[in-house]
Amino acid sequence: MVLKLNKEKIIVTSALPYANGPIHLGHLSGAYLPADIFVRYNRLINSDIIYVCGSDEHGVPITLTADKEKLTPKDIIDRYHESNKAAFEKFGISFDIYSRTSIPTHHETAKDFFKSYYNQDILSEKKSLQFYDEKAGMFLPDRYVEGTCPKCGFEEARSDECEKCGALYDTSELLNPKSKISGSTPELKETSHWYFPLGKFQERLEKYMKEANEKFNWKSNVLQYCIGWFKDGLNDRAVTRDLDWGIKVPLDSAKGKVLYVWFEAVLGYISATKELFKQRGNEDGWREYWQGENTRYIAFIGKDNIVFHTIIFPAMLMAWNDGNNDKFILPENVPANEFLNFEGKKFSKSRGWGIDVEQFLKIFPTDSLRYALASNLPENKDTDFYWKEFQAKNNSELADILGNFVNRTFIFAKKHFDEKVPTRGELKKIDIDMLARIAEAPIKIGKLIESYKIRDAVFEMMSLARAGNKYFNDSEPWLSVKENKERAATTVNICLQTISTLAEVFSPVIPFSAEKIFKMLNVKIADWNESGKREFETNHQLNKSEILFNKIEDKTIEIEIMKWSNPASLEEEVEEEKVPEITFDDFLKVDLKVAEIISAEKVKKSKKLLKLQVKIGKFERQVVAGIAESYEPEELIEKKVIMVANLKPAKLFGIESQGMILAIEDESGKLNIVAVNASLNSGLKVR
Ligand code: MF3
Ligand code: ZN
Repeated sequence: MVLKLNKEKIIVTSALPYANGPIHLGHLSGAYLPADIFVRYNRLINSDIIYVCGSDEHGVPITLTADKEKLTPKDIIDRYHESNKAAFEKFGISFDIYSRTSIPTHHETAKDFFKSYYNQDILSEKKSLQFYDEKAGMFLPDRYVEGTCPKCGFEEARSDECEKCGALYDTSELLNPKSKISGSTPELKETSHWYFPLGKFQERLEKYMKEANEKFNWKSNVLQYCIGWFKDGLNDRAVTRDLDWGIKVPLDSAKGKVLYVWFEAVLGYISATKELFKQRGNEDGWREYWQGENTRYIAFIGKDNIVFHTIIFPAMLMAWNDGNNDKFILPENVPANEFLNFEGKKFSKSRGWGIDVEQFLKIFPTDSLRYALASNLPENKDTDFYWKEFQAKNNSELADILGNFVNRTFIFAKKHFDEKVPTRGELKKIDIDMLARIAEAPIKIGKLIESYKIRDAVFEMMSLARAGNKYFNDSEPWLSVKENKERAATTVNICLQTISTLAEVFSPVIPFSAEKIFKMLNVKIADWNESGKREFETNHQLNKSEILFNKIEDKTIEIEIMKWSNPASLEEEVEEEKVPEITFDDFLKVDLKVAEIISAEKVKKSKKLLKLQVKIGKFERQVVAGIAESYEPEELIEKKVIMVANLKPAKLFGIESQGMILAIEDESGKLNIVAVNASLNSGLKVR
């Protein structure tokens, strides 16, 4: 049964990030920003497209983090699901839904797939040897074991997968295994698991990939990777694990076992779509996107996820289709990216290397980051994020080229044309050429985005802004406006036309700035096919212009470079001191007041103490303060300071002290009193 559709549908997915840590720039460059640009572009050409994603919440990555933080897996996923969802939103990733794999819809979907295979009798139950940690009393999941790769000798290889050479092997082949829980050498012990017969699908998978590639031109990094897999031959894959966090295997005989996280996570794309249409009140709507005859599926991922999306997931869908009437489509393309590195080194959550999105966007604007990343996507090879390059992209491209062109045009239109779009006069060659340029740009850029060459597309966008500046310069409207105003009017009209086109073609990359430009132009965004052809009405009124991109100062960038080149300061930031919390009421118990020091003298026989008389409003108090090594008594006279006024009196060196003065101890041990503005009256309360 195939659903007939009136209009082609497209479903786009980005890899579901594990909800065990923040999203960093590497994630964005790999699987989210390119997908978002693709989706935003498609919405502008009126595609019927949905973009789904969500948190991957099961499996060992989650339990490992929970163990490390001494929290439950549920604590971890709730925390990171919410914060990652918010971070994506702030970065402008326009998911139609950001779901999660802990929801019932997902559990049911995953169990349905497992049961379908089980009922078709294609799964096999096999006994195998699994590492068992005697000390911890449990079977060790893959990631709880480390050792030496049997293929390349890498010493920090995972139990069944080498991060360095990409080899997959049987856990029992790992050399020098170590348990990550207890550090001991684990024993191999027998357990039993269900296996999916990947090998049986090899022929069909090869055919599928060949055809998809012929039609849709797969990326060579993806193809090469898969060809390598086929060459080695596909083997049965265990789809269950001994773990108590995850989706329970729906068989009575499988107590204590859950579905392998990768086996169910890819199905998260389907369950997220189901959830989306449930929310839209159209329970079956998801089928049109996954099971229609005229629907397309594109899966955006990073290179570490290739095999799961080009081989395992398609095989799972084929196996479902073999046994069911409702049949899924397979990905038409899997445009996987390589990795983005951070200042020359691989992003690493565990080593605290690499800035996360939320941190970043506290300091810099979203569109500056989107542009910098989009123009440097690791489409064919790994690329690097460098702070200096980021600054240059913002200052010399966004601000100096795009921002400057928009700004100078608006200023000119305001000064000479009453903030209106002037009507064009007779066209000269230079004008005709520019109009041709803006007509062809959207077509060229659209083709590049459709073939996943986002970097090149972004380059074309900025080239159009460059061309705009050149046209402005060469046309010299500041001269023609004096001698031949119609000439200047033509120039400004075409510049505004160019700006409108720029806002349109740039909008998938820098949507927030594009929105500002449309507002300044006092128009709505057009269909992509109309961009470059906008006709302003006669005397169309413009809105007030604003600066689109502020320059990032050297100082600001130096601070970031310093932070990241000095691991000590990084650690301080990471490990915030843990101080017990107090309630607001606790805080209110402390009576903090402004006090004026009216006299000060050394306390005999003490190196540290000074005896102070202070005034708090109408009252006088005596305070003994340990600041004699930091201040001479005379320096303190008439200083206004903050004092704890309700501290229980105490005797120091036999002198009564009726309060305490606040001071800050700096790195050298010097005490710095907290002095306040001299104009504040003593006795005022600090709150
Ligand atoms: N959570 C995995 C990762 O971050 C990716 C899962 S993609 C999915 O590497 F398709 F399985 F969801
Ligand atoms: Zn290896």
